[in-house]
Amino acid sequence: MVYVKIIITCGNPLLLYFRMYGLYACINMLLYVYITCAVHFKMNFVKRLSESPDLNSIPSIYTYSTNPNESPVSNSQDSIPTIDFSLLTSPDPSLRLQVIQELGDACKDWGFFQVINHGVPEDLMNMVVEKSNEFFNLTDDEKKDFEEKDVLDPIRYGTSFNSKKDKVFCWRDFLKVIVHPEFHSPNKPVGFSEIMLEYSKRTREVVRGLLNGISMSLGLDQCCIENTLKLESGLQIFVVNLYPPCPQPELAIGLPPHSDHGLLTLLINNGVGGLQIKHNGKWVNVNDTFPGSFLVNTADHLEIFSNGKYKSVEHRAIVNNVATRISVVVANGPSLDTVVRPAYELVDEERCPASFVPMKYREYLEMQQGNQIVGKTCLDRVRV
Ligand code: OGA
Ligand code: NI
Repeated sequence: MVYVKIIITCGNPLLLYFRMYGLYACINMLLYVYITCAVHFKMNFVKRLSESPDLNSIPSIYTYSTNPNESPVSNSQDSIPTIDFSLLTSPDPSLRLQVIQELGDACKDWGFFQVINHGVPEDLMNMVVEKSNEFFNLTDDEKKDFEEKDVLDPIRYGTSFNSKKDKVFCWRDFLKVIVHPEFHSPNKPVGFSEIMLEYSKRTREVVRGLLNGISMSLGLDQCCIENTLKLESGLQIFVVNLYPPCPQPELAIGLPPHSDHGLLTLLINNGVGGLQIKHNGKWVNVNDTFPGSFLVNTADHLEIFSNGKYKSVEHRAIVNNVATRISVVVANGPSLDTVVRPAYELVDEERCPASFVPMKYREYLEMQQGNQIVGKTCLDRVRV
């Protein structure tokens, strides 16, 4: 239908062009129009853009303006809490109690902590980063099958955050794969799928242990979060972020300030810094963390379930002009069909009424992933 319209509207000018310049020029002109359209509708990945030989400045679509009144970024990261995961199963009850208390404090005061002694082999973590990098190094043709179409597609290779909605583009390409309750994975590069499956299982165990501890820190049963939010069929999304070197890093943003949608997010990276978290209203750099540790942040559904006791932390990723940064993020949430509301035990009609309206996790996810991402505005939509 569209083609018919184009032919009808273009028919006469095309004929005129053909009469004036001949067949050869006419074919050339059509080819030019075709290529221009193809380039325009193709996804503009930043990896490819950053590899252009003469790139000295960024295209204006990547110009991101930060708030000029924002206070300077602090490096006071020494105080970022550290949780020793092995103590959660210590035979000594006083050590268990202590680490649960520390976990609760970390969620309340920071919404962010690093986890050590978690039992996931460092080799596996390194392989995950390495294989993820190999994915981005596949040819455009090999990656094409995975280009995103819909926000709940199990495998999505894309750029920015939501390239259909974003007014300013993020200096970031990504791969997002749903790995639980059903496991998916791209079939390339070789070995990626096996590594991803193992990593998904091992990280789910860490998340389960942490959420059990967090449950107790809220004064709930150890398995309250696990059972109420049906973690056995919980959603787990494996995300790789690729931030190539950017010629004007101060003008661009890797990922703008946002909070994550699930319960807890685990992050590792290739040793290049860029993550910043908001703590007491100020941005803090997260650079030097223990090698082999997980960086963990609280997400929106923990804020909802805890009735606001543990807030989801706002964070962002900045870029640099020297090295490519890769982060591998595992987002862990309730099962998609769970209607999430504040835990009954934490709500008191008079003294502590529910701060959030109930919403199905699937609907929340579609709302967050289908829009531009702006701070905590998505969570604000379900706030009472
Ligand atoms: C994310 C995220 C931060 C980073 O993927 O949600 O916040 O450092 N990533 O890549
Ligand atoms: Ni995030």
